[in-house]
Amino acid sequence: MIPSIILTSKEQQLEHLVVVVSKLSKLPSSIFSPAEKKYLKDQVENCKKEVVSFNRLDYMVFAFFIREEKNTSKRLESCRKAGDTIASCLNGRKAARVAIFDPEGLCDEVLALAEGMALGSYQFLKYKTEKEKENTLKEIEIYSDPMFSEQRVAHLNIVLNAVAICRDLVNEPNSHLNATELAGEFEKMAKEAGAAVEVMNRQKLETLRMGGVLGVNRGSTQPPTFTVMEWNPADASNEKPIVFAGKGVVYDTGGMNLKPGDSMLNMKCDMAGAATVAATVYAIAMAKLPVHVVGLMPATDNRPGADALVSGDIITMHNGMTVEVLNTDAEGRLILADALSYAKKFDPALVIDLATLTGAAVRAIGKFGAVAMQSQASGELQMLSSSGFDVYERLVEFPMWDEYGELVKSDLADLKNLGPAEAGMITAGKFLEKFTDYPYIHLDIAGPAFLDKRDSYRGQGGTGYGVRLLFDFISKL
Ligand code: BES
Ligand code: MN
Ligand code: ZN
Repeated sequence: MIPSIILTSKEQQLEHLVVVVSKLSKLPSSIFSPAEKKYLKDQVENCKKEVVSFNRLDYMVFAFFIREEKNTSKRLESCRKAGDTIASCLNGRKAARVAIFDPEGLCDEVLALAEGMALGSYQFLKYKTEKEKENTLKEIEIYSDPMFSEQRVAHLNIVLNAVAICRDLVNEPNSHLNATELAGEFEKMAKEAGAAVEVMNRQKLETLRMGGVLGVNRGSTQPPTFTVMEWNPADASNEKPIVFAGKGVVYDTGGMNLKPGDSMLNMKCDMAGAATVAATVYAIAMAKLPVHVVGLMPATDNRPGADALVSGDIITMHNGMTVEVLNTDAEGRLILADALSYAKKFDPALVIDLATLTGAAVRAIGKFGAVAMQSQASGELQMLSSSGFDVYERLVEFPMWDEYGELVKSDLADLKNLGPAEAGMITAGKFLEKFTDYPYIHLDIAGPAFLDKRDSYRGQGGTGYGVRLLFDFISKL
């Protein structure tokens, strides 16, 4: 659980307090004594601090000075990070509540601060028998004049809660989350949010001839699943749905092309795409956004069992195309390709897939954003990219040039699942594009989906990258 954000107008009580101001002269005299103001002035001017705190008898006071930064995206991000700093201090003090006082009505900055406090308080302690380090912060109250929009705060709580659910799913180890269990979680989320849900089992996938999902699953002792979540409200503003597809490899050993050394570490995160899609549809449905969306989540583990695919095997995909499997570790594109061709049945206005697809994406741009590619969707990608700056889940476009597509053509089958050593994230995207005939955006989230080391409010482990991004994108349609 993460803290909730609450709008309040009731009288201030003696509790931990954060005062948000744009400059020293805005510090309210009703809160700070002249001596305190002098101390704050010294800290800001001489020590260049943005967050200054001190104790009163039984509570802490933080003054947060918003950075003078014209770039809104960067300014709001510095607020989120300050929120994380303040929250870790409060959690260290075992505080349950904090009040944010906003004398200037700096709505965007205050909500970003609260967002950073909430996300920074996330923990995954399920398997700790002693929870002595458990964070205590439960409520972040905002006192503001003029009052913020209630709906905006409600949506923020919904999306932050969805991020926490996504992180939980990504952090859950394969021992406790196989494809069936993952689908079970998706089903629970859909039911809670009032979205329609169907979990297709192995038999159903066989009748649909989902050769990609079934092929990757062959080395496993556990069956695959394919979950379809749909939110189609009566007041939907779009005629054709927006479809999200997410890679749900609950564990990626590499299969017969077993991952060497440490490279298998953390491969429980390989279902982050599916978790993000489910959490996004969940949030959209919880917020009752008037947009028709569909989530497609194919799921399996990738293991080298006795019947596993071997290199050179040829499989027939859901759309009838044949694929020569040259490397069983390039499994994500196989299960996603089936989802992308299945997406056609919804006659989508746009399909966005999310996948921890390639190490090449991580090597190219690291952990600070996703690799994006598009076909027939340049306008949509521009909007998505702008949402990316707003919520600071950024993305950068890579090319869909035809020449890269030549590199995944096979001598024996229609396609091969392996390109040359260079530009691996692009050939993977081109492979997927062959299964689409609609406006399409591909997001390779292998970098930002999972962090080995804690990074401010993004935390450690699963980050939930993509949930805030897609929710923002859909909200603005
Ligand atoms: N799940 C991995 C990609 C990955 C790498 C995710 C690092 C998160 C962090 C994917 O299935 C994979 O193994 N990709 C291979 C593809 C290659 C065999 C063409 C890779 O990137 O090495
Ligand atoms: Mn792999
Ligand atoms: Zn994988």
